[in-house]
Amino acid sequence: MEKWLVTGAAGFLGSHVTEKLLSEGKKVIAVDNLSWGHKSFIEERTKEMDFYQVDIRDKSELDKIFEQHKPTHVIHLAALHFIPAAIKDPSLAIDINVRGTQNLLQSMREKANVKAFWFASTGDVYAPDEKAHHETESVISPFNIYGLSKFICEQLINLESKNAPETKFVIGRLFNLYGSRETNPHIIPEILNQIKKQTGDVQLSLGSIWPKRDMVPVDQTAACVIDTLTKVITFEQNIFCMNYATGNVTSVEEMIKTIAKILDRKIQINIDPTKVRSVERSHLQADVRALKAFLGRTPDPDLTIGLTKILKDEQFI
Ligand SMILES: NC(=O)c1ccc[n+]([C@@H]2O[C@H](COP(=O)([O-])OP(=O)(O)OC[C@H]3O[C@@H](n4cnc5c(N)ncnc54)[C@H](O)[C@@H]3O)[C@@H](O)[C@H]2O)c1
Repeated sequence: MEKWLVTGAAGFLGSHVTEKLLSEGKKVIAVDNLSWGHKSFIEERTKEMDFYQVDIRDKSELDKIFEQHKPTHVIHLAALHFIPAAIKDPSLAIDINVRGTQNLLQSMREKANVKAFWFASTGDVYAPDEKAHHETESVISPFNIYGLSKFICEQLINLESKNAPETKFVIGRLFNLYGSRETNPHIIPEILNQIKKQTGDVQLSLGSIWPKRDMVPVDQTAACVIDTLTKVITFEQNIFCMNYATGNVTSVEEMIKTIAKILDRKIQINIDPTKVRSVERSHLQADVRALKAFLGRTPDPDLTIGLTKILKDEQFI
């Protein structure tokens, strides 16, 4: 019987992954220390799965979970993800992201017989470039401590793939996810929070509105991750690296115009210099040919559809 263990299960992407797995009737073992995630995101469904409030830095607790459940599939999302928090405490970012990942890889090998493992890496491993980033052709040069911590994890996974040839390993480089249940104070929750507090015409006070990002709907990403791990088992090769994105980019300003159109409200943007990040990528876009070739699809790039969904979920419309 398939058993899917998800770390970071109570987080933004994790809550969508567990929801989808449960809706497909899969057995789920959820691990999260609730440092950023919320039990309420998965509360309704905790009866249907085994939930452990455990820190991935605690190897002995991980060992017990792997020993007891012997998961067949592992989706590893737990991390310190918010970049300003990682920059503020680089040692913590390395401790959670790198040591936590190594613990997990060891517990998997020592205590279970995992068929397929999926790791949440990031587009932040690529050197800044105006072109779409390609998995093997683009230059890898992490832009910040968060990206570096994820790149070190990729190297650990590469090494582990040689030690555990029966397991399939997928490194998924995620771009900018959006959708309901965001945990980190990213730009879309910030915009919606400000809109929520106002009636009629809206005045937004924001930092950089010009950077262009590959915006990816979180629920479709969750589905792509699960489908990848299901399919990867049929391949000979045991290590894969793919971008999870749409291949399109849009600026924050363009996103706000789309929101204004959907809400049929006037939105004026005021730049607050104190909110402008001193170092920021101007353009982050993925080449999605590998994902398309593997799955036959990518997440939907249509921002109007995606933003309308969040606005409905958050009861703006
Ligand atoms: N959201 C994005 O746009 C994006 C982009 C690139 C990569 N990623 C990666 O995808 C993964 C999921 O991202 P997310 O947006 O859902 O972030 P998130 O912060 O909502 O989820 C991470 C989860 O991990 C948990 N966690 C943190 N430290 C832990 C620890 N030591 N032990 C156990 N659990 C711990 C948190 O409580 C949280 O629920 C992360 O690894 C992130 O780096 C996300």
